[in-house]
Amino acid sequence: QIIPVILSGGVGSRLWPLSREHFPKQCLNLAHDHLSLLQQTAQRTQHLDVSAPIIVCNDDHRFLIAQQLQELGIKDASIILEPVGRNTAPAIALAALEANSDDAMLLVLPADHVINDIRAFEEAISQATSFAEADNLVTFGITPTRPETGYGYIKAGENHDVEKFVEKPDSDTAEKYLASGDYLWNSGMFLFKAGTFLSELKSHREDIYQAVSNAYQNKSQDLDFVRVDTELFSACPEESIDYAVMEPTKQAKVVPYSGDWSDIGAWDALYDFADKDSDQNVLIGDVMAEDTNNTLINAKSRLVAAVGVNNLAIIETADAVLVIDKNNAQSVKKIVKRIQKEG
Ligand code: GDD
Ligand code: MG
Repeated sequence: QIIPVILSGGVGSRLWPLSREHFPKQCLNLAHDHLSLLQQTAQRTQHLDVSAPIIVCNDDHRFLIAQQLQELGIKDASIILEPVGRNTAPAIALAALEANSDDAMLLVLPADHVINDIRAFEEAISQATSFAEADNLVTFGITPTRPETGYGYIKAGENHDVEKFVEKPDSDTAEKYLASGDYLWNSGMFLFKAGTFLSELKSHREDIYQAVSNAYQNKSQDLDFVRVDTELFSACPEESIDYAVMEPTKQAKVVPYSGDWSDIGAWDALYDFADKDSDQNVLIGDVMAEDTNNTLINAKSRLVAAVGVNNLAIIETADAVLVIDKNNAQSVKKIVKRIQKEG
């Protein structure tokens, strides 16, 4: 049996102003008419032979997440609360400890992916299982379509070996990898036994392993939630699984995943993913557009009208409006940082 581990720690600040500190993007209904990204992720695993999921999330989001799981009828999930985010290596280590058996098979899933091709997802997982049983860390590789610098790149060798794993290369390197045709994107989903991950983490980043173990040992139960020790977890170094384990490990395997997949990280990605009208616009809510092309408009609380504009994303909410050139979609983070600083 597989234990789904859902990583739900991020806020998704590039999707501001829809995402907020207290309402993270994985809890939004972004690409579905009634389920949030988190709910879609949890539901996707229900077709597999799985036991109750483990969700690792920020303390602030606990009631929102518990409620969203309950709406799906998932009542037996373990919800581990992080007092602060320390990125994915510590988060996954917490889940591996919570699984409480070295042989527990963990399927690590980001809470913010859209995958519609369930059959391809299931096929990839069944192909990955024998590699994971043989103590490998299995990643799911996706054929790249652009020189994205926000992803990990995997060079696959014989027998699904990972020859090289490079997290977030610079743009020249990403161009080179794309042109070579030898690389796959890391999907951010992983399959491995809890014990395989913990021993690889221990050998490559003993500091993280120790800090997480200490924090987990001093956990407390709060209603249905597992809360790790604030001080001890805060002392843990911050690092992603990609840098901490996947780059240095010699035990990685890659299985291709050929279905559809989208990490809806920013407004341009949401635009790319959505169905467009004949002017190549995506118009959501009370919106009017004239002589407007290639534009995403999302109106939440009032009429939004656009005339004669091209390639914008316009996101309206009751207390904030974002207008941005889609080519700058990654830079929304700069505004969010300023709001945090300047209030
Ligand atoms: N619980 C918890 N705690 N979850 C976290 C934390 C944390 O501190 N930090 C991130 N997450 C969750 C995010 O919410 C997301 O669902 C997932 O972990 C991945 O984190 P991202 O921050 O979105 O990573 P990324 O997109 O930069 O890179 C990863 O995903 C790419 C594909 O989407 C890497 O694995 C790349 O190699 C990969 O290509
Ligand atoms: Mg991401």
